Amino acid sequence: MSGLFLTVEGIDGAGKSSFIGWIERRLRAKGADVVVTREPGGTAVGEELRRLILSFEIDPVTEALLVFAARKEHLVRVVVPALERGACVVCDRFTDATFAYQGAGRGVDTGWLAQLEIWVQAKLQPDCTILFDLPVALARHRSAAARIPDRFEAQQEAFFERVRECYLLRAARDPGRFRIIDAAQSMTQIEAQLEAIDLLR
Ligand SMILES: Nc1ncnc2c1ncn2[C@@H]1O[C@H](COP(=O)(O)OP(=O)(O)O)[C@@H](O)[C@H]1O
Ligand SMILES: [Mg+2]
Repeated sequence: MSGLFLTVEGIDGAGKSSFIGWIERRLRAKGADVVVTREPGGTAVGEELRRLILSFEIDPVTEALLVFAARKEHLVRVVVPALERGACVVCDRFTDATFAYQGAGRGVDTGWLAQLEIWVQAKLQPDCTILFDLPVALARHRSAAARIPDRFEAQQEAFFERVRECYLLRAARDPGRFRIIDAAQSMTQIEAQLEAIDLLR
């Protein structure tokens, strides 16, 4: 596959959605064919699964299975075809979020998640993952000012501390793939941090 698979991660309120448009414009300015998408979602069935995941109190393992079901559909219909034609795929959340939210946050066994990852993705991994990192209290403050919390955003602070720690641990273990953004900074400073990322220069 000749395209570029770029994922954007971070806890709720970190600034992912705010900067995806900037990343898209930057890649387009470099002449790339860009596909912006999100998980769970990105397909008709995936968006329906997202609605279910966000609307109902469900068992954590059920939740993980639904996330991976949406992911398979997304990979087959959107991500892999785009990468095969050489496009840049920019995805708001991917499997790191499953390890962080369903694994560290909700307590689903990491070994099971790793098996599902292999089953659904085989060897496909993002080429680059931009992690928006900031203290949980600041992220909560930002999203509380912005919108009514969804089922995840309504979780306790300790849940997001576990999610954040898991993201940072995964980034530390895979420094070649991750780029960490200090998301506590101002919008202008974050643009400067993004501009310094090799793939976006
Ligand atoms: N660097 C920043 N400084 C101040 N506010 C920000 C910053 N980044 C994002 N925000 C605001 O915080 C809120 C949550 O950002 P959002 O992009 O929706 O986060 P996410 O998609 O990661 O949940 C939005 O209202 C956004 O305008
Ligand atoms: Mg968002």
